[in-house]
Amino acid sequence: MFSPCWRIFGIIATSLSALVLADAAANGNKTHLNPTIPGWHSDPSCVFVPEWDDTFFCVTSTFLVTPAIPVHASKDLVNWRLASHALTRETQWPHFNTTGQNEGIFAITLRFHQGTFYAITFFVSDGSNPLPPGLLFKTTDPFDDAAWSDPVLFRPGNIDPDLFWDDDNVPYMTCAESFISTIDLDTGALGPVTQLWNGTGDRNPEGPHVYKKDGWYYLLIAEGGTEVNHTVTMARSRTLTGTYVGFEGNPVLTNKNTGQYFQTVGHADLFKDGTGHWWASALATRSGPEWVNYPMGREMVVTPATWEEGQFPVISPVRGSESAWALPVSKNVRGRGPIYGTPDVFDFAPGTALPTNLLFWRWPNLSSFTISPPGHPNTLRISPSPDISSGVDPISFIARLQTDTLFEYSVDVSFAPTQLDEEAGITVFLTQLQHIDLGIVQVVDKLNHGMLQLRLRTTGGGNFGAAPPAVVHPIPNSWRAAPITLAVRADNDTHYTFSASSNSGLGRIVLGALPATIVSGGTGPFTGTLLGAYATANNGTGTTPAFISSWRYTGIAQKIDNHTFVPSW
Ligand SMILES: *[C@@H]1O[C@H](CO)[C@@H](O)[C@H](O)[C@H]1NC(C)=O
Ligand SMILES: *[C@@H]1O[C@H](CO)[C@@H](O)[C@H](O)[C@H]1NC(C)=O
Ligand SMILES: *[C@@H]1O[C@H](CO)[C@@H](O)[C@H](O)[C@H]1NC(C)=O
Ligand SMILES: *[C@@H]1O[C@H](CO)[C@@H](O)[C@H](O)[C@H]1NC(C)=O
Ligand SMILES: *[C@@H]1O[C@H](CO)[C@@H](O)[C@H](O)[C@H]1NC(C)=O
Ligand SMILES: *[C@@H]1O[C@H](CO)[C@@H](O)[C@H](O)[C@H]1NC(C)=O
Ligand SMILES: *[C@@H]1O[C@H](CO)[C@@H](O)[C@H](O)[C@H]1NC(C)=O
Ligand SMILES: *[C@@H]1O[C@H](CO)[C@@H](O)[C@H](O)[C@H]1NC(C)=O
Repeated sequence: MFSPCWRIFGIIATSLSALVLADAAANGNKTHLNPTIPGWHSDPSCVFVPEWDDTFFCVTSTFLVTPAIPVHASKDLVNWRLASHALTRETQWPHFNTTGQNEGIFAITLRFHQGTFYAITFFVSDGSNPLPPGLLFKTTDPFDDAAWSDPVLFRPGNIDPDLFWDDDNVPYMTCAESFISTIDLDTGALGPVTQLWNGTGDRNPEGPHVYKKDGWYYLLIAEGGTEVNHTVTMARSRTLTGTYVGFEGNPVLTNKNTGQYFQTVGHADLFKDGTGHWWASALATRSGPEWVNYPMGREMVVTPATWEEGQFPVISPVRGSESAWALPVSKNVRGRGPIYGTPDVFDFAPGTALPTNLLFWRWPNLSSFTISPPGHPNTLRISPSPDISSGVDPISFIARLQTDTLFEYSVDVSFAPTQLDEEAGITVFLTQLQHIDLGIVQVVDKLNHGMLQLRLRTTGGGNFGAAPPAVVHPIPNSWRAAPITLAVRADNDTHYTFSASSNSGLGRIVLGALPATIVSGGTGPFTGTLLGAYATANNGTGTTPAFISSWRYTGIAQKIDNHTFVPSW
């Protein structure tokens, strides 16, 4: 199945063991690979919690995707599992029907204080929702979706709320542009607002976090915008509300104005492990300075830091491979679903639940997704939505993240449409306005007879430009009796190859290869590529469901530098 790739795999495997061996010789350090959590995981915020078995917990932003606000858990910053999602119930926050494609749950701050976890965020919307956009979720059990509260609502003056407790346990909320106020964690009431710092003068001073250390209040922010000029800067003050004085050594972290493969490094958070070593989490984009081809969007990186008493921290620049403090390797972390990086082998057996890494765009219509319906064991039945490319209503689309530079994703599809334009297939999806679909679609021939076609169709063009024309291919009659396997694979970091094959071994049709720049930038500058299955009526009258089976995703390799690929983790 992966034959052309095994050759590449041999080369990359060698380069990884060379890295690891070189590192074993160093003084107890280890090689830390980035992205620490690959695939779209933007705006990370992390805490280390001794009370929960010495576990690191990080949250990442999810925009319009649900379930929202994943809490990732790790004991070694290498092996990660899903602890829970803070936002899983539509009743917690139903307002995902906003019209913009990059709206929704923006950056979250995760904090732990006196036994309770707090996830605080801002819901960006088109203005049709009159409720306060500040959302504060709480739990005393980070491993249980159901234990997360409904949100306490508050009305911050800007995005990116942070939470900080002063020594007297009074909580403060600081948002972008470093406006700080007290916050009542039960009612959301905010006290008088003070501005701490304007940053060094670059645009978008956002993503603030406040820390107290050695008698100083430290403020860390992002500046320059979440693109190639992204930086992390810091200031400090002897009192919480200022005056803050910027660090002469700013920025404390950036890859701006470098040729590094990892770009847009910023939106950082600082946390200390159980051995007293500091780390920074941040977002980064694997794009090189050209910043054109980056289908996975903004990913989560972790890098070591030293923070001496009375000083500003020194944060190691973000690289794909770094020498870092050696935490003992531990796959023994609590959570749901497998360790991240485990291939998807999903057969939708009767009585099983949806796998924990599958996601929806906005809240789904759950009755459109049925595991092993009567007469169709080991399938996921997807009933079509009127369209997947427009509107704010639920769409019949279920996906996972693209988490690897090189990968293969495939599903088997049984689909017997009867109405014109009924379609089901797989998609490489950045937003509703920007996706590449390989579908089985009902069309009519010249004599107006219904016929089934394979169609590779692009909506939107992102950094590529105009959408390339659709490619169609009739489905051989001999293929009709069995499911059809639809597959997409990335054999290099610039293109996806789309193919279909008959499940009964009657051949394979390659529809073509399309550039990954189609799902970079454009209407999805803040999000990243999802890979999934869909069913749509294409605005027609069809209601025929599709039956999806044998869902497979295998990560093959990660690109971590200009010319370096290593096996996926
Ligand atoms: C979203 O739903 C709310 C509540 O039902 C409604 O007031 C609002 O107009 C809707 N927004 C859009 C864009 O449909
Ligand atoms: C930030 O800049 C604005 C506009 O120049 C100014 O009014 C404000 O006082 C500044 N805030 C701080 C904390 O320096
Ligand atoms: C980055 O900064 C440079 C120099 O100020 C500017 O020319 C460029 O437009 C900026 N790029 C982005 C994406 O903001
Ligand atoms: C990596 O590629 C970029 C262009 O994408 C270039 O500017 C940079 O110098 C390269 N770095 C190395 C180490 O070759
Ligand atoms: C070990 O890792 C720390 C943290 O990154 C770094 O400061 C130190 O230089 C590393 N030591 C070596 C020998 O690479
Ligand atoms: C939800 O999906 C079911 C099955 O496809 C459909 O009958 C129903 O009309 C949908 N409900 C909404 C609100 O779209
Ligand atoms: C990447 O893969 C695509 C599809 O197979 C191919 O057309 C393209 O030439 C490849 N690019 C490079 C640099 O090998
Ligand atoms: C369905 O109709 C909407 C509204 O007219 C339109 O924006 C969208 O592009 C249509 N979808 C397709 C697949 O034609």
